[in-house]
Amino acid sequence: MRGIEIFSELQREATVWRRYLHENPELHFQEYNTARFVAEKLASFGINHIETGIAGTGVIALIQGEGGDGPTIGLRADMDALPIAETSNKPWASKNSGIMHACGHDGHTAMLLGAAKHLAKSRNFKGSVALIFQPAEETEFPTGAFKMVQEGIMDRFGISQVFGMHISPGIDVGKFGTRHGSIMGSQDDFDIIVKGRGGHAADPSQTTDPVVIAAQIIMGLQTLISRKTDPLESLVISVTKLSAAQAYNVIPDQVEIGGTVRTSASSLRDFAEHEILASAQAIARGFGAEIEFKYLRSVPATFNSTEETDLAIQAARKLVGAASVDEKVKFCMGAEDFAYMLEARPGAYIFLGNGPTPACHNPAFDFDDEALLYGIGYWVRLVETALGSETNNG
Ligand code: NI
Repeated sequence: MRGIEIFSELQREATVWRRYLHENPELHFQEYNTARFVAEKLASFGINHIETGIAGTGVIALIQGEGGDGPTIGLRADMDALPIAETSNKPWASKNSGIMHACGHDGHTAMLLGAAKHLAKSRNFKGSVALIFQPAEETEFPTGAFKMVQEGIMDRFGISQVFGMHISPGIDVGKFGTRHGSIMGSQDDFDIIVKGRGGHAADPSQTTDPVVIAAQIIMGLQTLISRKTDPLESLVISVTKLSAAQAYNVIPDQVEIGGTVRTSASSLRDFAEHEILASAQAIARGFGAEIEFKYLRSVPATFNSTEETDLAIQAARKLVGAASVDEKVKFCMGAEDFAYMLEARPGAYIFLGNGPTPACHNPAFDFDDEALLYGIGYWVRLVETALGSETNNG
């Protein structure tokens, strides 16, 4: 815990910011007040390179170190809330009905502001730090990170490495977890339309019944996991939508199947797309029916690169000691749109403990303000580790 107390004063300030943001949550791409708050705070720290309106409501600020030339690293916080009605009963509970910070993005924003204040004063690093305040993590494609990358932020700000952090209920406050390689899953969706020939339910021999074919296809998809996927790899296929006739006595012309695919690696997405189509098509053709198939790619897997993950682990260890840093945290199948930034640049994503609180996206969730201390400390130690004048970059 060497020196962590130097961040105590910042933590007290960040607690006030965090509770203000918690009280005033905004949904994806509507973070106008949040972005204004962030930009005002950054300016008050004496940072003069601040750009707003990136990907709609995103904000990026650049702090130049005084240690000489060096690369620019990006630190990212997400700012958006969720369409959930809060039940935490905290004094700082949401004032915007039906919207709440149930995923800790209020804390992520406050922690990065805390680190910004420290770094703008210390400037004890070479190169520069780009503080990326991202809109719209919690939405369908195209998400905030995707749009920021598409708007060319990596080239424009000269960012060579990017780092992300997320609060994690279930990990003790003051502890961190990360892992090399895939840490969060990819998210794709698919639609299969089974086209048969409808008719009277009392006379099925005159039809090509798409309901029976759809049932076989759904069961067939399960064997793609059990019989065709390496048991050491992670692939989930879930059928979640099914729509057929709306009457008891009608065999419909077609049945629509929809579902989601989650994987731990990009190669598995190609596999899933190819195999779902091949399996559904073979089954349908066996019955004399056809299918229409759509595979919709959304967030890729969040992939931590080797050198940057080592930097993240080193920084966390400097802050809380090796015993409080889990370097092999369990892979999580949920998707995180920071993955788009990690497709554009090497980097690493780390979990920060929130203690035994309700899960993220639960209406009773709240960010533990104690965790702000560790989040601020981590960002500062990471910059000093990656851009320290005494160490080379990596
Ligand atoms: Ni989140």
